Amino acid sequence: MNSDPTASQAQAAERLQQLQTQYQEILTQGLSLDLTRGKPSTAQLDLSDALDGILQGDFRAADGTDCRNYGGGLGLPEARKLAANYLECKPEQTLVGGNSSLQLMYQCVLYNHLFGDQEGAAWSREAGGGKVKFLCPSPGYDRHFSVCEALGIEMIPVALNAEGPDMDQVEKLVQADPLIKGIWCVPKYSNPSGIVYSEATVQRLARLGSLAGANFRIIWDNAYAVHHLVENPPELANLLSLSEQVGTLDNVYAIGSTSKITFAGAGIAFLASSETNIRNLARHLSYVTIGPDKVNQLRHVRFLQDNATIAAHMEKQREILKPKFDLVLQHLDLAFTGKCVGGDPIGTWTRPAGGYFILFDTQPGLAREVVRLTGAAGVKLTPAGATWPYGEDPQDTNIRLAPSFPQLEEIAAAMKIFTLCVELATLKRSLEKS
Ligand SMILES: Cc1ncc(COP(=O)(O)O)c(C=O)c1O
Repeated sequence: MNSDPTASQAQAAERLQQLQTQYQEILTQGLSLDLTRGKPSTAQLDLSDALDGILQGDFRAADGTDCRNYGGGLGLPEARKLAANYLECKPEQTLVGGNSSLQLMYQCVLYNHLFGDQEGAAWSREAGGGKVKFLCPSPGYDRHFSVCEALGIEMIPVALNAEGPDMDQVEKLVQADPLIKGIWCVPKYSNPSGIVYSEATVQRLARLGSLAGANFRIIWDNAYAVHHLVENPPELANLLSLSEQVGTLDNVYAIGSTSKITFAGAGIAFLASSETNIRNLARHLSYVTIGPDKVNQLRHVRFLQDNATIAAHMEKQREILKPKFDLVLQHLDLAFTGKCVGGDPIGTWTRPAGGYFILFDTQPGLAREVVRLTGAAGVKLTPAGATWPYGEDPQDTNIRLAPSFPQLEEIAAAMKIFTLCVELATLKRSLEKS
């Protein structure tokens, strides 16, 4: 049953006084805790230490390529096979390059913006001085939004529901405005809301290219495809094969990396699309590099081998990550389940089946204040608003919690302060309003 602290003004004021006293005590402790970025912890990174030395001096790829030398712009054949297994497509539809999927995504957007596939197809030319635009299902990944900002692409927020982006809105927008050239998608365990796109959503996305035009691109950032927190993970429909069936594969770039499988920053990144797009993109990348780090590709192929080996490896990651997510959820459950202020829940939060984040929603208008209070008390959180284009969360409710990096004791300490700050901010505002 809900217990509403505002039922009694005096009780609420007394509770606020208690919270403020506790908060003042915390301020004197000089804490330094961090729940900001979704980085793997040291224990997770340790799981891949065998990458070091795995080649034992054998630098030859299966086709005889000497991986120490230049070349191989599309990636090693065996690395492309690994990528194809991960992204569920054919090896010819993949390109493996660099250590970061963000870098590949940036290159894709840049290539289409500046060059495009044929004469006149560049987004910037087509815009003729107008603004190229991207749809941004929100809340979303802040670094996607930074790519748009860096290239001067206008961002249009689109509602992200439990099934994925609001497809009615998406279809309407792309049909109304030909300068909308793309959409960012994190289809599985979305950053930060953790949702998985439904099959119906993926089917509609597969047909989006035919509504939006030949040079529209879906950036399908499948960063968390194998990063499960539950034993029976939800399935994601295969956008690449659905798009191929309806003739829109050119409209899709599917992306992944091993940043959160092996070493973040020293993993391999890959992309899948139509063979034409792969060829065009490889040509563009050849202006950027004479070839990717094939030694690292070979190390990864030897270490990760195939989907079954990846799954077994990710099970070990899950054993490390799950207790951390459970601990955050325990604190939220204990502090807020059934608790209301001013007749509304103090907060709501997600219970993700995978990925790296828990999304907490404050009452409207309080996320910034909660992040400020927690920050002053020594707990760093992702800035409120960061999960929205231009840093503008219209409701000011979203707070992204990232428990992967800190140790359990640090999470417990941080969550005590976080829950205290949420209650403090909520009660204070409610009493000021009444
Ligand atoms: C959705 C998403 N895509 C991409 C990345 C970055 O991946 P990479 O390290 O391969 O650039 C992250 C990292 O947090 C992410 O959450």
